[in-house]
Amino acid sequence: MNVPDVGTDVDKAAGILHDGGLVALPTETVYGLAAAIDRPDALRRIFSVKGRPIDHPLIVHVVDVNQARTLCCEWPSPAERLSSTFWPGPLTLILRRSGAVPDEVTGGRDTVAIRCPSHPMAQSLLRLVRTPLAAPSANRFGRVSPTCAQHVVDDLDGDVDYVLDGDSSSIGVESTIVDCTVEPVQVLRPGAITADQIERVVGSAAPASGPSRASGMLESHYAPRCKIIAVESSEEGERLSAKPRHRLIDTRTSPDDAARRLYADLRRCDQEGVETAVIVLPEPLGIGLALRDRIMKAAAGA
Ligand code: TXA
Ligand code: MG
Repeated sequence: MNVPDVGTDVDKAAGILHDGGLVALPTETVYGLAAAIDRPDALRRIFSVKGRPIDHPLIVHVVDVNQARTLCCEWPSPAERLSSTFWPGPLTLILRRSGAVPDEVTGGRDTVAIRCPSHPMAQSLLRLVRTPLAAPSANRFGRVSPTCAQHVVDDLDGDVDYVLDGDSSSIGVESTIVDCTVEPVQVLRPGAITADQIERVVGSAAPASGPSRASGMLESHYAPRCKIIAVESSEEGERLSAKPRHRLIDTRTSPDDAARRLYADLRRCDQEGVETAVIVLPEPLGIGLALRDRIMKAAAGA
């Protein structure tokens, strides 16, 4: 087995990206598998390493709003307001792309997903490379997203040139995705920044609708191998999990902590041969909404 190179050397990571290599990038949401957007071979390698269909678009990570604006041909006022309120942070904006974005990134779409991460190591790397970085979550296709360097190593072995170790992700679920190419804007994926917060900034926001919206969301990001049963109360969770090879994951009392730990907990269930994870859902408030979304998808095997 190839032993992957893991460390905290941001200069080395920047050099590898410049040379067309792949680097696992820590962010506040989950770890990404990054390539420079001006390296078509590296972009194609992301898809082969992940086992991801090539028409499945990638998120482009930028150092700031100015760099984001070079990637789009329109910068509508919701994009201006949302980026100035929530960037750097766990928010991805869909915008009409400019000629600076290669087809490999967007799967041929005329839109591009852009996000400015707040993780200090991601920020320093982006400042050093000076090229936007395309990065999907650094898991193999169909596995849950990685939230620490060890998860990336477990999933990708030596198929990544360097794993930048930035500790455990502080949020633990993927970014909120907002489509700014429609009026009103649409929330395509819930995350730590809620639809209510988005609405307060842009006036109104709609939930995702229409078949084209769903097409990018088909990847089963959230499914572990064990069976998931989702319940609404701790009592029910305790009752259903009191069986051999069952495990209780109770997210109700502390949803922020539970979000940080969910993917690690699910990976541990698989490693330890758990047959069924019984998950007590959080209340549908704040991060609880994103957490419920990921847990329900895992329960549906979606
Ligand atoms: O928190 C995150 O967003 C993490 C970190 C690494 O930044 N990234 C992440 O990437 O979750 P990924 O590839 O696992 O999920 C990206 C999602 C996919 O559902 C994809 O379909 C959607 O973003 N997406 C990308 N470009 C799009 C576009 N132009 N239009 C609609 N959806 C798009
Ligand atoms: Mg993913």
